[in-house]
Amino acid sequence: TDRDFIHPSILNADFMRIGEELDRIGTADAAHVDVMDNHFVPNLTFGADMVEQIVSRSPIPVDAHLMIEEADRHAPVFAEAGADSVTFHLEAAKAPVRLARELRRKNVAVGVALRPATPIEPLLDVIGEFDMLLIMTVEPGFGGQSFLEGMLPKIRRARAAISEANLEVSIQVDGGVSRETIERAADAGANVFVAGSAIYKAPDSVEEIAVLRDLAAA
Ligand code: DX5
Ligand code: ZN
Repeated sequence: TDRDFIHPSILNADFMRIGEELDRIGTADAAHVDVMDNHFVPNLTFGADMVEQIVSRSPIPVDAHLMIEEADRHAPVFAEAGADSVTFHLEAAKAPVRLARELRRKNVAVGVALRPATPIEPLLDVIGEFDMLLIMTVEPGFGGQSFLEGMLPKIRRARAAISEANLEVSIQVDGGVSRETIERAADAGANVFVAGSAIYKAPDSVEEIAVLRDLAAA
């Protein structure tokens, strides 16, 4: 892929002012919305109704990251809510390829996410079934954690397999992405960068998005 994408995570936004918080990231490529069910991860956030409202209010596409159990049953609801991409966790899906096909029929881009401890190898044979691979660079559940440098070889292996198979699959990294870490992730082969605290805690989020974009492309 020859283009980089910056997806601010609204997990660190001020939820009482969500409309303005979406406007703050209008120069980004998509708004990353972290859906958590308090079972797959020990935290609880938004449901499909909230995603639907975010979609209708957002000036940019919506990238839903589902950290929820029973993905096979729930993920289609988020596609119907109007998200542009729906990413479910491999660990939470009984039939990931079947689910990916069902989601694609609903005209969303489909992502598959891996927790830090989940190996990439079993997925490589079927990687063409997905539009995006999300390699978590923190343990999912909370914003503001440190980037796990140990995930860089996993990103490299995934990128090598995707190039070798001549596929157009994006690699998204999520967790601890900042000015300090984005270049290493890009260098390893990631091209979609989720950043929550780095963008929402910055005094000027438009400037921070531009800086991250430049560093990713460097
Ligand atoms: C964590 C979420 C992330 C989170 C990233 O489980 O998936 O999207 O918001 O936050 P930062 O960028 O602060 O690590
Ligand atoms: Zn996320």
